[in-house]
Amino acid sequence: MKLLVTGVAGFIGSKIAEEALREGHQVIGVDDLSQGQLENIPAKAQFIQLDLSQSNNIDQIPKDIDIILHLAGQSSGEISFDDPILDLSKNTVSTLNLIRFGIENRVRKILYASSMSVYGHVDDKPISEHEDCHPLSCYGAGKLASENYLKIYQHELPFVAFRMFNVYGPGQDLSNLRQGMVSIYLSYALKNHTIPIKGSLTRFRDFIYIDDVVKVWMQAIHSSAVTNRILNLGTGEKTTVQNLMDQLKEIIPNLSWTENENTPGDQFGVYADISSLKNLLGFSNFTPLSTGLRSFAEWAQKRIQKKVLQKG
Ligand SMILES: NC(=O)c1ccc[n+]([C@@H]2O[C@H](COP(=O)([O-])OP(=O)(O)OC[C@H]3O[C@@H](n4cnc5c(N)ncnc54)[C@H](O)[C@@H]3O)[C@@H](O)[C@H]2O)c1
Repeated sequence: MKLLVTGVAGFIGSKIAEEALREGHQVIGVDDLSQGQLENIPAKAQFIQLDLSQSNNIDQIPKDIDIILHLAGQSSGEISFDDPILDLSKNTVSTLNLIRFGIENRVRKILYASSMSVYGHVDDKPISEHEDCHPLSCYGAGKLASENYLKIYQHELPFVAFRMFNVYGPGQDLSNLRQGMVSIYLSYALKNHTIPIKGSLTRFRDFIYIDDVVKVWMQAIHSSAVTNRILNLGTGEKTTVQNLMDQLKEIIPNLSWTENENTPGDQFGVYADISSLKNLLGFSNFTPLSTGLRSFAEWAQKRIQKKVLQKG
């Protein structure tokens, strides 16, 4: 199949593109490089540098696309407050432009990278897709709006929106200290040994390893059963920040941390009810957090050493 992967220079988009190419698909990759890196883009992908929020750019994309995998977007809740209009345009306007492209060119399906940020404050229980959504950040509001646009056009362009929880693993941007809880902590731990934690250690999240995310997205490409659905993409496991610290300390014994004020729009705690994911895609074999953290830390250590050597 010919797949359009947006956000191909970013963390998740580049990994999905890599796997799609390995499976023998043709990949057209799009990114504006506002956050992603050229070096992340798999060599065999056909890369087009463009900003999807500018509708006149969309003409540069080949028209014979089978499936769109839309991962491009400003990806941080915290950063979304710096310039909410830019966030809306990078996330939601881009999605609308792609929906129009998909309809005009009879694309079979669009898969969308939504987020657990749509939920906002919720009770301490596995959160299902039926829960009311009250986003707390401009980012979450934009993701929810994108989902709604996808629902409006679902009869012309079938969709699947994955509400991804905290994705982590090799390939994540260690230099961005405002996006990705695990990558931020790991980056501080490896460079300075002290992690300034923004918010309480009793907060909780659902951490999912990148390889599991890639597998689910690839399964959804092939599955015709999963159409016009919003699906949680987490492990269903609740992990407190304290527990994450304890596990990181086993890997990096000399790390310490300080507790600081929350970032705006931060959810206190959220983890996924994954019944729908299991029923529809049969996926339940998740990488344990301890294993995922270890392989991420090994990768990060090598990467930091390489950067130090390059500078020297
Ligand atoms: N990482 C997570 O834990 C997580 C969780 C839930 C949802 N998501 C969503 O998944 C997607 C991928 O996340 P990621 O962690 O790989 O983020 P990332 O920042 O590494 O990748 C996003 C990519 O999109 C590109 N981009 C941004 N705006 C664009 C535009 N208008 N046109 C073209 N390219 C543009 C950036 O340059 C970047 O390479 C994002 O939409 C993010 O919001 C991520």
